[in-house]
This record gives sequence, C-alpha cells and structure tokens, in this order.
Amino acid sequence: MRALIWIVLCVMLAFPAAADDTEAAATEPRAATGGAQTLEDIMARQRGEKIDDSDRRSNIGQGNAEALMGQLGTRGVASDADVFRALRYGSADTSTTARGLTTGLLIQDGGMRWLIFREGPILTYGLGFVGFMVLIIGLFYAFRGKILIDGPKTGRMIVRFDAFERFSHWVMGVSFVILGLSGVFLIAGRKFLIPWMGHDAYSTIAVAGKWAHNNMAWAFMISLVFVFILWVKHNIPDRGDISWMRKGGGLFSKGVHPPAKKFNAGQKIIFWSVIVLGFGISITGLALIFPFSFAMFAKTFQFVNLTGLPQLISGAPLPDILSPYAEVQLAQLAHGAIAFLFIGIIIAHIYLGSFGMEGAIETMGSGEVDEQWAKEHHSLWYEEEMAKSKNLESKAGDQAAPAE
Ligand code: HEM
Repeated sequence: MRALIWIVLCVMLAFPAAADDTEAAATEPRAATGGAQTLEDIMARQRGEKIDDSDRRSNIGQGNAEALMGQLGTRGVASDADVFRALRYGSADTSTTARGLTTGLLIQDGGMRWLIFREGPILTYGLGFVGFMVLIIGLFYAFRGKILIDGPKTGRMIVRFDAFERFSHWVMGVSFVILGLSGVFLIAGRKFLIPWMGHDAYSTIAVAGKWAHNNMAWAFMISLVFVFILWVKHNIPDRGDISWMRKGGGLFSKGVHPPAKKFNAGQKIIFWSVIVLGFGISITGLALIFPFSFAMFAKTFQFVNLTGLPQLISGAPLPDILSPYAEVQLAQLAHGAIAFLFIGIIIAHIYLGSFGMEGAIETMGSGEVDEQWAKEHHSLWYEEEMAKSKNLESKAGDQAAPAE
C-alpha cells in the first residue's frame, strides 16, 4: 500500500513538469531538444528548405582556435557539440599539416541542394525542352511535310563539303549522339530507368555509359575545334541574313527560296549555338573529369556582380567565394542544363539535315549536291562556285592554247 502511495505521488509530481516541457516544445520546438535541431529541421534541410539555424551557427563554444588551445585539455573549454557545430558551419580551425584546396573544409552542406536541383528542375525542364522540340518538329512535318527540291534535278553535281569537312562533322555528330544518350541515361537513370529495368541492368549500362561519356568527350572537343576553324569564315553574320530571316528562310512555304551564301542565317544560328554551347559543355565537362582543378564560377560570379544585374533581380549579389565542392556542383548543374538545351537544338538540326529536306544528307554523305538543290537553297554560294569554276576553266584554256 505504501509503495502504491509513493508511485501515485511520484506521478503527480512528475506530470506538471512533463506538461511544462510539452508546452515549451509546442511554442519553441527546439526547446525539447535543448536547442539542437529537430527531426522537422532535418527533414526540411533534406527538402532543400532554409531553416533558422542561427542559434547553432553561433553556438560554437569560445571560438574555435582559443577553445582548441585552452588549458582544460586538447579541446579546451569547447564540448564535442561545440566543435562539431564549428566544423558544420565552417568556422572551426582545421589547420592540419595536409595542404590542399579542400583540406580546410570538413563538412559541406551544398550536396542536398545540388541533388534536389539536379533531379528536379534540371531534369524536368531539360526533358521538357527536348520533348517540346520534338513536338515542334512533329507539327512542322505535319504542316509543311518534307522540303522537296522544287525544280527538276539537273544530274550535274557540285562539291559542297570536302572529305575533311565531312570527317570533322561526323566525328562531332557521332560523338555528340553517344554523349547525349549516355549523359541522359546517367542523369535520368535513377528516376526512370532503375524502377523499370532494375539495379543490376542499369548498373551495367551506367558503367558503360560513364566510360563512353568520359572518352567520347575528347573526340567531341577536338572535332569542335576543327569545325570552328573550317566554317567560321562562312558563318559571319551579314545583311543577307536579315532578309533570309524575314522570309522565314522559305521553310514555311513551297517555292520560296531567299538567296543564301554557303550557310544561310538558320545554319549560322546552328553553327554559333554549337560553338558557344559546345565550348560551355566542354569546360564544365573538363571541370567534372578533373574535379577541384578549375574554379571558374566564383570568378564568373565576381564579373557578373559588377554588372549589378543579380542585385537588381534578386536583391543580393551572387556568391563570389565558393568552396571547391560548390564549384564542382555548379559545373555539374551547368553541364546538365547546357546539355539539354544543346540536345533540343541539335534534334531540329538532325531532322532538317536528314528526313526533313530532300538532298541535304547527300551534302554530308558523298559531299556533292545536285546543282538544282544548290540553286534553290544556297543561290549566292552556287553563283560563287560557278564563277570560280569558270575562272579555272578559262585559266586552263589559256594554258592549253598554243603560244603564237
Ligand atoms: C547525327 C545526325 C546528324 C545529321 C544527319 C547531320 C546532318 C548535317 C547536314 C546534312 C549538314 C549540311 C547542311 C548543308 O549542306 O547545308 C550539317 C551541317 C552541320 N552540322 Fe550536322 N548532322 C548531324 C549531327 C550534328 C551534330 C550532333 C552537330 C553538333 C553537335 C552538328 C553540327 C553541324 C553544323 C555546325 C553544321 C553546319 C551548319 C549547318 O548546316 O547547320 N551536326 N549536318
């Protein structure tokens, strides 16, 4: 009986205290954890949301260096929790004998933001843009059909691209397709392929894809340089491009053929997109093959901040001090975003260069086109070529004529 009375008394005394705790926890959830983060904090952080961590950020004992060298032992007056918080927020004195760009930073929390952005907006908008381009091409085909050669073919052929031009183009084309497919497999695999084909099958594809992706990149970069050198002189914008654009390049109506040189305005857009996006995808790709070797984003952000645009748009400048990890994460995000844009544009190019336009694929196959095709699609270039060959013929005629 006496024991029962004791138990009842103890419960009665303890209950108000528990109620107090519950009340405090309800008003300030972190009160229940003594100021430490709550499960809700952790979940919010994993969802990429911002949480109020000001308490913990400043709660790192007596400052790192002093605390570490105090008289009470190796950690001085700092507790384990203080030290871990200092490490977590990058304010601990992590001086070690190891020297390197990443040795000072032991915990970085950008990874979750990177993962969420990569699997979220990059993948969704990226695939969305590619799908949108396929839809546009489908609609274009439905309304316009294949662009045929309007006049009768002459049977006389004219050289459009020499062997080296075709070789460079196809190295770039084939490597791009392999890079594009393996890259999309890598970024979309976890979400779409693993549930469908399982981990084992996906792993085989992912390993092969990664190997192909890292090695094909070299072929792409070298051919990009060749293509630039070979065709840049034909892709300088000029006045003729404006009238070509005004007539929609004749793409939307039969029998309309605005004059064009070797490359028309549409092709110039493709060329410069390939060069600019190709350069962007190459440097961000190199930053991924050789991580921590390039620090391009902090410098780029410094430069962009000088324009005042980020301040105008978001009210704050872009961060111009970035950890090496943040540099690699940004390189990866930029690489993915550029890749999807690039793939969408190239899908349109592949369509017009193959099924979409009669005679186009021959220009990159045998390198020769029918004169009628040349007259319709690149009349100024055709005239130039004709003038050149007449010149050559008359020179040859002069040499062959017997001297009087
Ligand atoms: C894989 C399928 C591809 C096909 C069937 C194809 C077809 C063609 C054809 C027929 C031309 C010559 C057009 C003309 O004579 O006026 C051409 C030019 C060109 N191609 Fe491709 N191509 C492909 C892939 C690529 C890729 C992946 C890239 C770049 C990443 C690329 C970049 C270019 C560039 C810059 C030009 C010159 C500008 C232009 O004609 O638009 N091609 N392509």
